Amino acid sequence: MNIRQIIIRKRSGQELDNKEIEFFVRGFTAGGIPDYAASSFLMAVYFRGMTEKETFFLTRCMMNSGEIYDLGRFGRRCVDKHSTGGVGDKVSLVCGPIVASLGVKVPMICGRGLGYTGGTVDKLESIPGFCARLTHRRFMKGLEKIGLVFSSQTGRIAPADKKIYALRDVTGTVENISLITSSIMSKKLATGAPGIVFDVKCGRGAFMKKKKEAGDLALWLVKVCRKFGRKATVLITDMDQPLGTTVGNSLEVIESVECLKGHAAPDLLDVSLRVSAEMLVLSGACRDLVAARQAARRQIENGEALRKLGEVITFQGGDTAVISEGFRGWKKARHISDIRAEKTGFIQDIDAGLIGQLACELGAGRNRLEDRIDPSAGLIFFCKKGNRVQKGETIARAFTDRRDIAEICGRLKRAVLIAEKRPVLPAMILKRITS
Ligand code: URA
Repeated sequence: MNIRQIIIRKRSGQELDNKEIEFFVRGFTAGGIPDYAASSFLMAVYFRGMTEKETFFLTRCMMNSGEIYDLGRFGRRCVDKHSTGGVGDKVSLVCGPIVASLGVKVPMICGRGLGYTGGTVDKLESIPGFCARLTHRRFMKGLEKIGLVFSSQTGRIAPADKKIYALRDVTGTVENISLITSSIMSKKLATGAPGIVFDVKCGRGAFMKKKKEAGDLALWLVKVCRKFGRKATVLITDMDQPLGTTVGNSLEVIESVECLKGHAAPDLLDVSLRVSAEMLVLSGACRDLVAARQAARRQIENGEALRKLGEVITFQGGDTAVISEGFRGWKKARHISDIRAEKTGFIQDIDAGLIGQLACELGAGRNRLEDRIDPSAGLIFFCKKGNRVQKGETIARAFTDRRDIAEICGRLKRAVLIAEKRPVLPAMILKRITS
């Protein structure tokens, strides 16, 4: 068997057998297949797609390329959550503590942001001292003691995915449904939660711009979960305007803390309570979504969810001053600039895609996996879609170390549309699919 033959077979649209897929995954992960051949293989998959059988097997090989965690000792009351990523998406930071504070184990494997979608690991690492690289031992200890861990994909969890994803990123082969599904699922399956709630973001600030694409991904995720004996619920949620009121790593941590103190933007609260409720139902902690949502809300009101966030920050080496003192002691951006309304009216639209791109330019995101991000960079919005604003009123504030802040803020104005009529607000939950 050789990689050239496998590439040619896939290029001509044939279904690969298990041995060929294994040959590619093992060979590339071990360094025996060079990047140029792997790129060519991925491009052939990108154009020709993969069948269900191929996708299942690719997922299995990638999952088995590293350590497999056994969470059997925690029983059914254990649930993971995954978001496909969006602008201002800090839901994991809110629902992880809520659900864990109700006695459910939450082994959250989180990613770093790429492009304009932020990653939970980047956000948490803006907390001084916070460490998301947990060994297997620390991961298990955290789950036992706190009930919640936020862990990055270390080199030991699905290393094949880590390597393949980095190559996909630079070869224009990210947007293929089989590659996306196997990438997401390989790490989720390797870390072993019996149930997973997926938040598939849909809109201009997400990977999946259209409902049809998001729906297809949702079905694939459910199918793979079923195949591997895991329970799954997928919510497709709106990502057309940034979620909540902040975009940028440390700003989003502060907003999550505020949300758990009971001061949340309605859209962030809505999605966080719904995702939490789905996690509570999937894990069997609550019997239905109404009871689960009430339970989740109670954990915010009685301070238990905030306390749980404090516990996990401490366990992972972070400074909990973020909870009591906000930004004190954190790196501050060198330049701050306000964006003001050019006329009086209603905020008609805030383009999450454009905001995400500009937040990246401010330093809040990365274009390549190895780029460094600036934790203090980002944006605060003082109004959301549907709010009335007066001419000259501050609608957003930008934070950055970059000197071209004025030019970036000039372009930011184009992302916010003001008109006379009050717009209809979108439903945040667009669809639900369960296994
Ligand atoms: N997230 C992943 O983990 N992998 C992909 O391919 C896309 C999003």
